[in-house]
Amino acid sequence: MNKLSILTRAFSSSSLNAVKTVTVVGGGLMGSGIAQVAAQAGQNVTVVDLKPELLEKAQKSIQQNLTRVAKKVHKDDAAKVEAFVQDAASRIKVSTKVEDGVNADLIIEAIVEKLDVKQELFNKLDLLAPEHTILASNTSSISINAIGAGIKRKDRFGGLHFFNPVPIMRLLEVIKGDHISEQTYQTMMEWGKAVGKTCITCKDTPGFVVNRLLGPYSAEALRMYERGDAKAENIDLAMKLACGYPMGPFELADYTGLDTKKAILGVMFKATGDPVFRPIPVLDRLVEEGKLGRKSGEGFFKYEK
Ligand code: NAI
Repeated sequence: MNKLSILTRAFSSSSLNAVKTVTVVGGGLMGSGIAQVAAQAGQNVTVVDLKPELLEKAQKSIQQNLTRVAKKVHKDDAAKVEAFVQDAASRIKVSTKVEDGVNADLIIEAIVEKLDVKQELFNKLDLLAPEHTILASNTSSISINAIGAGIKRKDRFGGLHFFNPVPIMRLLEVIKGDHISEQTYQTMMEWGKAVGKTCITCKDTPGFVVNRLLGPYSAEALRMYERGDAKAENIDLAMKLACGYPMGPFELADYTGLDTKKAILGVMFKATGDPVFRPIPVLDRLVEEGKLGRKSGEGFFKYEK
Protein backbone atom coordinates (compact mmCIF):
# COMPACT_ATOMS: atom_id res chain seq x y z
CA MET A 1 0.00 0.00 0.00
CA ASN A 2 1.47 3.41 -0.91
CA LYS A 3 1.55 6.48 1.34
CA LEU A 4 -1.35 8.13 -0.44
CA SER A 5 -3.68 5.20 0.07
CA ILE A 6 -2.74 5.06 3.75
CA LEU A 7 -3.78 8.69 4.08
CA THR A 8 -7.00 8.10 2.18
CA ARG A 9 -7.78 5.11 4.39
CA ALA A 10 -7.27 7.31 7.44
CA PHE A 11 -10.05 9.61 6.26
CA SER A 12 -12.55 7.02 5.16
CA SER A 13 -12.35 4.70 8.15
CA SER A 14 -12.78 7.20 10.97
CA SER A 15 -16.55 6.74 11.09
CA LEU A 16 -16.07 3.08 12.09
CA ASN A 17 -14.14 4.03 15.14
CA ALA A 18 -15.69 4.30 18.62
CA VAL A 19 -13.08 6.85 19.68
CA LYS A 20 -14.11 10.37 18.68
CA THR A 21 -12.14 12.53 21.08
CA VAL A 22 -8.47 12.08 21.84
CA THR A 23 -6.12 13.84 24.23
CA VAL A 24 -2.39 13.62 23.77
CA VAL A 25 -0.30 14.54 26.80
CA GLY A 26 3.16 15.68 25.67
CA GLY A 27 3.36 17.70 22.45
CA GLY A 28 6.96 16.89 21.47
CA LEU A 29 8.16 14.83 18.52
CA MET A 30 5.77 11.97 19.12
CA GLY A 31 2.80 13.75 20.69
CA SER A 32 2.51 16.27 17.86
CA GLY A 33 2.60 13.44 15.30
CA ILE A 34 -0.05 11.45 17.16
CA ALA A 35 -2.26 14.54 17.41
CA GLN A 36 -1.85 15.10 13.67
CA VAL A 37 -2.86 11.61 12.57
CA ALA A 38 -5.86 11.64 14.92
CA ALA A 39 -7.03 15.03 13.61
CA GLN A 40 -6.53 13.87 10.00
CA ALA A 41 -8.79 10.93 10.78
CA GLY A 42 -11.57 13.33 11.82
CA GLN A 43 -11.16 13.18 15.58
CA ASN A 44 -11.21 16.09 18.00
CA VAL A 45 -7.85 16.36 19.67
CA THR A 46 -6.47 18.18 22.70
CA VAL A 47 -2.71 18.43 23.11
CA VAL A 48 -1.38 19.10 26.60
CA ASP A 49 2.18 20.21 27.33
CA LEU A 50 3.93 22.03 30.14
CA LYS A 51 4.47 25.47 28.59
CA PRO A 52 2.66 27.63 26.00
CA GLU A 53 5.84 27.93 23.88
CA LEU A 54 6.08 24.12 23.59
CA LEU A 55 2.48 24.01 22.44
CA GLU A 56 3.16 26.75 19.92
CA LYS A 57 6.08 24.71 18.57
CA ALA A 58 3.85 21.63 18.37
CA GLN A 59 1.15 23.56 16.48
CA LYS A 60 3.70 24.93 14.04
CA SER A 61 5.13 21.50 13.36
CA ILE A 62 1.65 20.00 12.92
CA GLN A 63 0.69 22.78 10.51
CA GLN A 64 3.83 22.20 8.43
CA ASN A 65 3.32 18.46 8.33
CA LEU A 66 -0.36 18.79 7.45
CA THR A 67 0.60 21.06 4.56
CA ARG A 68 3.07 18.44 3.35
CA VAL A 69 0.35 15.75 3.48
CA ALA A 70 -2.21 18.04 1.81
CA LYS A 71 0.18 18.77 -1.07
CA LYS A 72 0.69 15.05 -1.61
CA VAL A 73 -3.05 14.40 -1.66
CA HIS A 74 -4.27 17.52 -3.51
CA LYS A 75 -1.15 18.33 -5.57
CA ASP A 76 -1.34 21.91 -6.93
CA ASP A 77 -4.92 22.64 -5.92
CA ALA A 78 -4.09 25.43 -3.46
CA ALA A 79 -7.69 25.86 -2.27
CA LYS A 80 -8.02 22.19 -1.42
CA VAL A 81 -4.61 22.18 0.28
CA GLU A 82 -5.67 25.15 2.41
CA ALA A 83 -9.06 23.59 3.23
CA PHE A 84 -7.45 20.28 4.22
CA VAL A 85 -4.95 21.95 6.56
CA GLN A 86 -7.54 24.25 8.11
CA ASP A 87 -10.01 21.41 8.59
CA ALA A 88 -7.55 19.15 10.43
CA ALA A 89 -5.90 21.99 12.36
CA SER A 90 -9.28 23.30 13.53
CA ARG A 91 -9.86 20.00 15.32
CA ILE A 92 -6.76 20.43 17.48
CA LYS A 93 -6.96 22.38 20.75
CA VAL A 94 -4.04 22.94 23.05
CA SER A 95 -3.69 23.49 26.78
CA THR A 96 -1.09 23.57 29.52
CA LYS A 97 -3.58 22.01 31.95
CA VAL A 98 -4.18 18.29 31.86
CA GLU A 99 -7.62 18.96 33.38
CA ASP A 100 -8.65 20.51 30.04
CA GLY A 101 -8.02 17.22 28.27
CA VAL A 102 -9.56 14.64 30.58
CA ASN A 103 -12.95 14.52 28.87
CA ALA A 104 -11.81 12.30 26.03
CA ASP A 105 -12.53 8.78 24.82
CA LEU A 106 -8.80 8.05 24.62
CA ILE A 107 -5.88 9.74 26.37
CA ILE A 108 -2.42 8.96 25.02
CA GLU A 109 0.65 9.86 27.04
CA ALA A 110 3.79 10.88 25.10
CA ILE A 111 5.90 12.58 27.78
CA VAL A 112 9.45 11.98 28.94
CA GLU A 113 10.62 8.33 29.11
CA LYS A 114 10.73 8.14 32.94
CA LEU A 115 8.69 5.67 34.94
CA ASP A 116 7.94 7.86 37.97
CA VAL A 117 6.85 10.83 35.84
CA LYS A 118 4.57 8.64 33.73
CA GLN A 119 3.11 6.94 36.82
CA GLU A 120 2.32 10.28 38.43
CA LEU A 121 0.54 11.44 35.28
CA PHE A 122 -1.51 8.25 34.91
CA ASN A 123 -2.51 8.27 38.57
CA LYS A 124 -3.86 11.78 38.05
CA LEU A 125 -5.59 10.93 34.77
CA ASP A 126 -7.20 7.89 36.38
CA LEU A 127 -8.76 10.09 39.05
CA LEU A 128 -9.91 12.84 36.70
CA ALA A 129 -11.04 11.08 33.51
CA PRO A 130 -14.58 9.74 33.02
CA GLU A 131 -15.21 6.01 33.53
CA HIS A 132 -15.20 5.08 29.86
CA THR A 133 -11.91 6.81 29.00
CA ILE A 134 -9.13 4.54 27.79
CA LEU A 135 -5.63 5.47 28.93
CA ALA A 136 -2.61 4.55 26.83
CA SER A 137 1.13 5.12 26.91
CA ASN A 138 3.40 5.66 23.92
CA THR A 139 6.40 4.48 25.95
CA SER A 140 9.25 3.02 23.89
CA SER A 141 10.52 0.64 26.49
CA ILE A 142 9.00 0.96 29.96
CA SER A 143 6.74 -1.83 31.20
CA ILE A 144 3.08 -1.03 30.66
CA ASN A 145 2.20 -2.97 33.82
CA ALA A 146 4.66 -0.85 35.82
CA ILE A 147 3.34 2.44 34.39
CA GLY A 148 -0.22 1.47 35.25
CA ALA A 149 0.58 -0.09 38.64
CA GLY A 150 -1.17 2.66 40.60
CA ILE A 151 -4.33 3.11 38.53
CA LYS A 152 -7.72 1.53 39.17
CA ARG A 153 -8.87 1.18 35.55
CA LYS A 154 -6.22 -1.40 34.65
CA ASP A 155 -8.71 -3.02 32.23
CA ARG A 156 -8.88 0.26 30.28
CA PHE A 157 -5.15 0.80 29.96
CA GLY A 158 -2.55 -0.35 27.42
CA GLY A 159 0.36 0.66 25.20
CA LEU A 160 0.06 2.41 21.85
CA HIS A 161 3.62 2.57 20.59
CA PHE A 162 3.99 4.75 17.49
CA PHE A 163 7.15 5.31 15.46
CA ASN A 164 8.87 8.50 14.45
CA PRO A 165 7.80 10.36 12.30
CA VAL A 166 4.28 9.32 13.27
CA PRO A 167 2.49 10.56 10.12
CA ILE A 168 4.85 8.51 7.93
CA MET A 169 5.71 5.34 9.84
CA ARG A 170 3.01 2.77 9.29
CA LEU A 171 3.46 0.51 12.30
CA LEU A 172 1.66 0.72 15.62
CA GLU A 173 2.57 -1.72 18.38
CA VAL A 174 -0.47 -2.34 20.55
CA ILE A 175 0.84 -3.52 23.90
CA LYS A 176 -1.24 -5.86 26.00
CA GLY A 177 -0.62 -5.37 29.69
CA ASP A 178 -1.68 -8.13 32.08
CA HIS A 179 -5.03 -6.59 32.96
CA ILE A 180 -6.33 -5.04 29.73
CA SER A 181 -9.85 -6.16 28.77
CA GLU A 182 -10.52 -7.66 25.36
CA GLN A 183 -12.90 -4.79 24.64
CA THR A 184 -10.26 -2.14 25.37
CA TYR A 185 -7.70 -4.01 23.35
CA GLN A 186 -10.07 -4.29 20.36
CA THR A 187 -10.94 -0.59 20.60
CA MET A 188 -7.25 0.27 20.58
CA MET A 189 -6.62 -1.94 17.54
CA GLU A 190 -9.59 -0.38 15.71
CA TRP A 191 -8.47 3.11 16.60
CA GLY A 192 -4.97 2.34 15.31
CA LYS A 193 -6.45 1.23 12.00
CA ALA A 194 -8.70 4.30 11.88
CA VAL A 195 -5.66 6.58 12.07
CA GLY A 196 -4.07 4.71 9.18
CA LYS A 197 -1.69 2.36 10.97
CA THR A 198 -0.98 -1.33 10.64
CA CYS A 199 -1.25 -2.72 14.15
CA ILE A 200 0.65 -5.59 15.67
CA THR A 201 0.02 -7.09 19.08
CA CYS A 202 2.82 -7.44 21.58
CA LYS A 203 3.04 -8.65 25.16
CA ASP A 204 4.40 -6.31 27.80
CA THR A 205 8.04 -7.31 27.30
CA PRO A 206 11.14 -5.01 27.48
CA GLY A 207 11.33 -2.87 24.32
CA PHE A 208 8.31 -4.72 22.86
CA VAL A 209 9.14 -5.95 19.34
CA VAL A 210 10.91 -3.11 17.56
CA ASN A 211 13.12 -1.69 20.31
CA ARG A 212 14.13 -5.15 21.53
CA LEU A 213 15.70 -5.62 18.11
CA LEU A 214 16.72 -2.04 17.38
CA GLY A 215 18.31 -1.41 20.82
CA PRO A 216 21.27 -3.82 20.48
CA TYR A 217 21.86 -2.72 16.87
CA SER A 218 21.93 0.90 17.87
CA ALA A 219 24.08 0.30 20.98
CA GLU A 220 26.65 -1.69 18.98
CA ALA A 221 26.86 1.09 16.38
CA LEU A 222 27.53 3.69 19.09
CA ARG A 223 30.25 1.50 20.64
CA MET A 224 31.84 0.94 17.25
CA TYR A 225 32.03 4.73 16.85
CA GLU A 226 33.34 5.15 20.41
CA ARG A 227 36.17 2.67 19.75
CA GLY A 228 37.06 4.61 16.60
CA ASP A 229 36.43 1.60 14.35
CA ALA A 230 34.64 3.80 11.80
CA LYS A 231 33.20 7.29 11.49
CA ALA A 232 29.52 7.87 12.22
CA GLU A 233 28.80 8.88 8.62
CA ASN A 234 30.53 5.75 7.31
CA ILE A 235 28.62 3.45 9.66
CA ASP A 236 25.42 5.15 8.46
CA LEU A 237 26.43 4.70 4.82
CA ALA A 238 27.28 1.06 5.43
CA MET A 239 23.87 0.22 6.83
CA LYS A 240 22.02 2.19 4.15
CA LEU A 241 23.95 0.80 1.20
CA ALA A 242 24.49 -2.75 2.41
CA CYS A 243 21.23 -3.38 4.23
CA GLY A 244 18.88 -0.99 2.49
CA TYR A 245 17.98 0.83 5.71
CA PRO A 246 16.47 4.27 5.04
CA MET A 247 18.65 5.82 7.76
CA GLY A 248 21.87 4.75 9.41
CA PRO A 249 22.03 4.27 13.21
CA PHE A 250 23.46 7.75 13.90
CA GLU A 251 20.94 9.60 11.73
CA LEU A 252 18.26 7.56 13.45
CA ALA A 253 19.61 8.27 16.95
CA ASP A 254 19.69 12.02 16.18
CA TYR A 255 16.18 11.76 14.77
CA THR A 256 14.85 9.87 17.80
CA GLY A 257 16.51 12.29 20.25
CA LEU A 258 19.64 11.26 22.16
CA ASP A 259 17.97 11.83 25.54
CA THR A 260 15.19 9.44 24.53
CA LYS A 261 17.71 6.95 23.10
CA LYS A 262 19.69 7.03 26.39
CA ALA A 263 16.51 6.60 28.42
CA ILE A 264 15.39 3.63 26.29
CA LEU A 265 18.76 1.85 26.61
CA GLY A 266 18.75 2.54 30.37
CA VAL A 267 15.29 1.04 30.79
CA MET A 268 16.24 -1.99 28.70
CA PHE A 269 19.44 -2.53 30.71
CA LYS A 270 17.51 -2.40 33.99
CA ALA A 271 14.77 -4.69 32.69
CA THR A 272 16.94 -7.34 31.04
CA GLY A 273 20.39 -7.03 32.69
CA ASP A 274 21.79 -7.68 29.22
CA PRO A 275 25.19 -5.89 28.96
CA VAL A 276 24.47 -4.97 25.37
CA PHE A 277 22.27 -2.20 26.83
CA ARG A 278 24.91 -0.95 29.34
CA PRO A 279 25.61 2.81 29.46
CA ILE A 280 27.48 4.28 26.50
CA PRO A 281 29.82 7.14 27.57
CA VAL A 282 29.62 9.06 24.29
CA LEU A 283 25.83 9.09 24.49
CA ASP A 284 25.91 10.21 28.14
CA ARG A 285 28.34 13.01 27.26
CA LEU A 286 26.27 14.35 24.35
CA VAL A 287 23.10 14.35 26.45
CA GLU A 288 24.90 16.14 29.30
CA GLU A 289 26.07 18.78 26.82
CA GLY A 290 22.48 19.27 25.64
CA LYS A 291 23.29 17.83 22.22
CA LEU A 292 20.08 15.88 21.81
CA GLY A 293 20.04 15.43 18.03
CA ARG A 294 17.80 17.13 15.50
CA LYS A 295 15.49 18.63 18.11
CA SER A 296 18.33 20.66 19.71
CA GLY A 297 20.20 21.39 16.47
CA GLU A 298 23.15 19.07 17.19
CA GLY A 299 23.78 15.46 18.14
CA PHE A 300 26.16 13.22 16.25
CA PHE A 301 25.61 15.65 13.36
CA LYS A 302 24.75 19.35 13.15
CA TYR A 303 21.39 20.62 11.86
CA GLU A 304 20.05 23.98 10.83
CA LYS A 305 17.50 25.12 13.39
P1 NAI B 1 10.05 14.93 23.35
O1 NAI B 1 11.13 15.32 24.29
O2 NAI B 1 10.11 15.38 21.95
O3 NAI B 1 8.62 15.40 23.92
C1 NAI B 1 8.14 15.16 25.21
C2 NAI B 1 7.20 16.29 25.57
O4 NAI B 1 6.51 15.96 26.78
C3 NAI B 1 7.92 17.62 25.80
O5 NAI B 1 7.34 18.62 24.98
C4 NAI B 1 7.70 17.89 27.28
O6 NAI B 1 7.55 19.27 27.58
C5 NAI B 1 6.39 17.15 27.54
N1 NAI B 1 6.16 16.78 28.93
C6 NAI B 1 7.04 16.23 29.81
N2 NAI B 1 6.42 15.99 30.98
C7 NAI B 1 5.13 16.39 30.83
C8 NAI B 1 3.98 16.39 31.68
N3 NAI B 1 4.05 15.94 32.93
N4 NAI B 1 2.82 16.86 31.19
C9 NAI B 1 2.74 17.31 29.92
N5 NAI B 1 3.78 17.33 29.07
C10 NAI B 1 4.96 16.87 29.52
O7 NAI B 1 9.94 13.33 23.46
P2 NAI B 1 9.35 12.31 22.37
O8 NAI B 1 10.45 11.88 21.48
O9 NAI B 1 8.11 12.86 21.79
O10 NAI B 1 9.03 11.05 23.31
C11 NAI B 1 7.85 11.00 24.11
C12 NAI B 1 7.56 9.56 24.48
O11 NAI B 1 7.41 8.80 23.27
C13 NAI B 1 8.67 8.87 25.29
O12 NAI B 1 8.08 7.97 26.17
C14 NAI B 1 9.47 8.14 24.20
O13 NAI B 1 10.17 7.02 24.71
C15 NAI B 1 8.33 7.70 23.27
N6 NAI B 1 8.74 7.43 21.89
C16 NAI B 1 9.70 8.21 21.28
C17 NAI B 1 10.09 7.91 19.97
C18 NAI B 1 11.11 8.74 19.27
O14 NAI B 1 11.60 8.31 18.19
N7 NAI B 1 11.47 9.92 19.76
C19 NAI B 1 9.50 6.78 19.24
C20 NAI B 1 8.44 6.08 19.95
C21 NAI B 1 8.11 6.40 21.25
